[in-house]
Amino acid sequence: MSETTVAEDAKKPDSTILGTGHYLPSRVLSNADLEKMVDTSNEWIVERTGIRERRIAAADEAASDIASNAAIQALNMAEIDAKQLDLIIVATISPDMPLPATAMYVQQKIGARSYCPGFDLAAACAGFIYGLSVADSLIQANQAKYILVIGVELLSRILNYEDRATCVLFGDGGGAAVVGPSSGDGRGIISTHLYADGSQAKSLYIPAGGSRTPASEQTVRDKQHFVHMAGQDVFKFAVKSLSSAIQTAIRSSGLTPKDIDWVIPHQANIRIIDAVANRCNIPKERFYINIERVGNTSSASIPIALDEAVRNGLVRPGQNLLFCGLGAGITWGSALVRW
Ligand code: ACO
Repeated sequence: MSETTVAEDAKKPDSTILGTGHYLPSRVLSNADLEKMVDTSNEWIVERTGIRERRIAAADEAASDIASNAAIQALNMAEIDAKQLDLIIVATISPDMPLPATAMYVQQKIGARSYCPGFDLAAACAGFIYGLSVADSLIQANQAKYILVIGVELLSRILNYEDRATCVLFGDGGGAAVVGPSSGDGRGIISTHLYADGSQAKSLYIPAGGSRTPASEQTVRDKQHFVHMAGQDVFKFAVKSLSSAIQTAIRSSGLTPKDIDWVIPHQANIRIIDAVANRCNIPKERFYINIERVGNTSSASIPIALDEAVRNGLVRPGQNLLFCGLGAGITWGSALVRW
């Protein structure tokens, strides 16, 4: 594993991840279950996506419940009391409700100060990276000391379980990180790079339920409140853009692909991960992959994978971690962290 130090001209980390947590609902939806619901097969799903099962939230669970479970674990690992938090950022495209922000419910559930600010951030599968970037900037600017960044999704609530092209891909879950000041030893968030291309907005979207097309009986009948996706377009965009984001992150920090100990990618499709690994010259063994068990959980995907890798001892102090994700927007980004 790498002993390389960050280039002199690269930013010294101002903030660091002090603790992580994740929560997956207990109900498992397997490919065999989906075979009974839509015209699909275990073979097709495994071969085309790498997914074998995903988790589905219980009827009485909402985003803030799952988010709070993950957050409490992250706070415990960080040894930070919820009352010390200066900001709560919840990255999600499946909030408890459109109004108010899910962050408000999380504030109450975890016992944060009643005046601790919070907001939701809708950047889909890049949401956690966007949140991390905001947290890093605010800590760098001395605007906050401890920030909770959560990625949470109940995608099962916004999927059409008659559309085999989307319903087999996604699952529910949440992950969280407590971000705080770096101790000045070179460990922490080295860089974040955020990107978006709004010209691709309709390649992955929910057509109705917003101000453009408010909910009506007709929109419900037409299943316009569910995720619609042009899968192949997103696939091609993902391979190209994620590879480029990874290469930029590595180059801008004066590192080489050899210096990356773990890539923690958004878990959308194993074939996207394979193609990105090839293009970036990083062996696939250095990608942390849980897509087989978890599926695509959008904003929650990276923090769930990160917490699993931390808790099972794969991630060790001093290692270089690279997060990358791409989703609806199309938004994408990367974050380089020295653990
Ligand atoms: N079971 C069986 N057959 C299926 C299924 C299924 N579940 N889904 C689609 N098919 C069929 C199609 O109908 C098509 O049949 P046809 O050739 O008779 O028309 C055939 O399989 C091939 O379909 P493609 O769409 O070309 O399949 P592809 O290999 O592209 O895989 C997939 C589809 C898995 C969706 C892939 O395109 C993908 O992963 N795209 C990227 C998804 C992504 O990254 N999303 C962004 C993040 S998500 C977020 O932001 C919320």
